[in-house]
Amino acid sequence: GAAQPVIVAIDGPSGTGKSSTSKAVAAQLGLSYLDTGAQYRAITWWMVTNHIDIDDASAIAAVAGKPEIVSGTDPRDPTITVDGVDVAGPIRGQDVTSKVSAVSAVPEVRSRITELQRSIAGSAVTGIVVEGRDIGTTVLPDADLKIFLTASAEARAARRSGELKGADLNTTREALIKRDAADAGRKTSPLAKAGDAVEVDTTELTLQQVIECVVTLVEEKRAGK
Ligand code: DC
Repeated sequence: GAAQPVIVAIDGPSGTGKSSTSKAVAAQLGLSYLDTGAQYRAITWWMVTNHIDIDDASAIAAVAGKPEIVSGTDPRDPTITVDGVDVAGPIRGQDVTSKVSAVSAVPEVRSRITELQRSIAGSAVTGIVVEGRDIGTTVLPDADLKIFLTASAEARAARRSGELKGADLNTTREALIKRDAADAGRKTSPLAKAGDAVEVDTTELTLQQVIECVVTLVEEKRAGK
């Protein structure tokens, strides 16, 4: 009979190859793709653009429902808009990157974005790969497959500074460790590995090897369904 939609959750800190892996796996298997970090970056961009005081959690909470965030889920062309404005470029900037942990720690922001994520995942026809920090633990606890990607801090910093051309390795490493600590230490659904997640340490693996590993795990799940 027709295959059930397959829901794949991919969590982990930054610099583990999460986005590249998730997009490739979704494209290869004909699934939709959702970058939940981009949604938190998008709401942060809106807060910055509207001069909301990032240090004031109650000010953020009061307007958390205002911006309309729309995510395009084609893994070959993922898009993100806020109130109709394409923010794919600006959400990757230093300003948003340095503020996103504070904004995403606000419970009203998380409940709003979580609701959006569940609705997108629930309407995916063939299934979806959802990448983030709390997908397997909080957003989609009933996902068919949960992957937790890890890598050494050295490997993650090296990958990140490769992406940010010319960035200093030590500065990148410090910023990354600081953001991970904030994401893992917050009260509301912190970065965490779900008890039933498969942990994949990518330190010694090429991107291609990680993709193949995850594709195999999804195919095994599908065959067993
Ligand atoms: O994956 P990324 O670096 O684009 O994520 C940006 C930030 O968004 C990250 O520092 C923490 C937050 N985030 C989150 O709190 N929960 C998620 N599911 C995804 C991202």
